[in-house]
This record gives sequence, C-alpha cells and structure tokens, in this order.
Amino acid sequence: MNDQIFIPKPYPSKIDSGSFTWSSPSNIALVKYWGKTNVQIPKNPSISFTLNQCATTTKLSFSKQSLTDFSVEVFFEGELNQTFKPKIITFFQRVEKYLPFLKDYRFKIETTNSFPHSSGIASSASGMSALALCLMSVEQALGKHHSHAFFYKKAAFLARLGSGSACRSLYGGLVSWGAHPHLKNSSDLFGTPYQETEVHDVFKSYHDTILLVDKGEKQVSSTLGHNLMNGHPYAQYRFEQANDNISKLMSILKSGDTKAFINLVESEALTLHAMMMTSDPYFILMKPNTLKIINKIWQHRKETKSNLCFTLDAGANVHLLYPDVEHRDVHSFIETQLKQHCQNGQFIHDRVGKGPILLS
Ligand code: PMV
Repeated sequence: MNDQIFIPKPYPSKIDSGSFTWSSPSNIALVKYWGKTNVQIPKNPSISFTLNQCATTTKLSFSKQSLTDFSVEVFFEGELNQTFKPKIITFFQRVEKYLPFLKDYRFKIETTNSFPHSSGIASSASGMSALALCLMSVEQALGKHHSHAFFYKKAAFLARLGSGSACRSLYGGLVSWGAHPHLKNSSDLFGTPYQETEVHDVFKSYHDTILLVDKGEKQVSSTLGHNLMNGHPYAQYRFEQANDNISKLMSILKSGDTKAFINLVESEALTLHAMMMTSDPYFILMKPNTLKIINKIWQHRKETKSNLCFTLDAGANVHLLYPDVEHRDVHSFIETQLKQHCQNGQFIHDRVGKGPILLS
C-alpha cells in the first residue's frame, strides 16, 4: 500500500472556525521499534499495549487566516510554549500533502498530560496521536465523511509522521506497527489493531505500573537513538530477531502462556538497551535503581509464583507488567520493596486501555 490513499480530493465544505478536543493514550511496546529509515519507516515491526491513565488531552482551535504560511501557537499545561513549536511546524510540513487545509487556518493547540511533567514518560506517542485525531476531525468538518476504519487509519498514518510509536496509540488493547507476514493488515505506514480473537483473556486486562526511577530529561533523543542503528554492528541480527519475536509473541498471546511472555518481553527490553550500549556513541540509560528493581523482580519471581515482569523504554523508568488477578500482591510488593527505588517514591498505576476518546 502506498500513501496515495491518504491524499484527499478537494474538500466539499467550507468552515470559518471551530475546535476539537481529543484525549489519546500512551503505549508501551512489548516487541520494540528501534531503528528507522526516512520518513519514520520502522526497520522492524513492533507490538504494544495501549495504556489507559497516561494520556494527552489536546484541544485544537482553528480560524480562517489570509496568510500563506503555517500559523500555530502551542500552549502546554496552560502556558505558551515555544519549544514544541518547531516540532509541530516540521510535522505540519510532513503532513500538508495529506491535509491541504493546514495553511488556510490559524491554529491554537492547548495540550495537557495526565502524567507529571518531566516524569521521563515519553509524551510524544500520546501527544502526536491526539493532535493527529484533532486534525482528522477538522478534515471531517470540511466535509470528508470517512468510514470509522479509514478515519483511524489515516490518523495513525499522520501520527506516525509526528513520532513513530504514536501510530500505535490510535486503538485500544494491542496494536502492531510494521509489515510482518503473519500480522493481518500490517503496514509500515500506520498502526493496526491486533485481532482480539487472537488474544487470551489474561492479556486483555494486563496492568502496567510505571516506576519513575529517573524523571530527568531524556539522555538520548529518539531521533539520535534510532540513528544509532544505522551502521550498528548487530543491527541486522536485531531486526531479524524482532521479526521472529513478533511470531513468537503471537502464539504466546493466543495461548495465554504468561511464563513465555515474561521471557520474551524482558529479553526485548534488555536487547533494546544492549543496542544502545553497543552503538557508537554508546549509552547506558539504566540507573543503579533500574538494576536494583530488576533484581528484586527476579528474586520475587523465584520466591513466589508471580507472573510479574518488566519492560523498559529508552530510559531508566521501569514498566511493571502483570495479570489482573495478581494486582493486589504486586501492589503490596511495590509498596514494600520497589517504591524506595523511585524518585520521590513516585509511580503510576496504569493498565491496558481502550484507546482515544473524542471529548468535544
Ligand atoms: O516513537 P519514538 O521515535 O519516540 O521511538 C520509540 C522507541 C521506543 O519507545 C524505545 C520503543 C517503542 O517501540 O516504543
């Protein structure tokens, strides 16, 4: 499939002004995306759980303008924010071909996150997916009545051009991104909802508690990080492994084998970090407390029958994944054993969510 289907015919309606508000969640990858080609094409497929609590709410207001360039103001948590603007302008430039109304309006973006500012939680997935949905609502107001499926497919396609992993935030449950022979309707261009009938009940209500180990600025920007995979000595093997892991994860998701899930998910997390430790330049993004937490999880699993496991993003925070039936035990383990390794004792209880919502 190519991008032509996302280029609209002239819009049938005219509209002077309006606003839309969407809330869109973050997601956590089980099989990780690390490495891309231009523009935002992944080097390997990935699969994630959509989260519920960690979300961005974005209000996009628009009014007709006579200028011939992009006009956009960004307000973050109620304050005018100049640092996000260049990223939004780059995004507008990338998607203008698919949303030819972007220079016709003056835009105001008001955005807030449900999770604490500078918590080290990536907000680009929730932020870019929320913005893509707002823009799709504007396109709809201009008279484009897309089917429900196409509306979300195009939103995912646009979100990808803002931030790769954002294209996995448009649907609830499990979402894949990247072409894979066993994944139905999979594409490098947009995220695709994972077939619910292929998922065992245990994985439909999984929890994710995010332990905030290091709330500082990201040490490696996402763009720099992905670029490290160009010319990386282990890159080719890693991309093959990710493809194999997708196939393995598919059968694990179907059978409900939580032990095999633990092995695969933890190995994916450590492989992502191994790629960073073996690139040029090299980075260690884990902190001493990340390792303390991982060791405590392993010890805990040895002592109990727990199915608690961890995954990591490109940072020091630890995502704890566990089945719903174990949530009480895990919560008390966090309180008594893990909380002490978090910055200011902070963590966020989250779980698999249902996807974005149109608020107004
Ligand atoms: O979407 P980006 O460019 O911020 O990359 C995200 C990469 C990881 O979070 C490390 C892995 C993933 O698949 O989400």
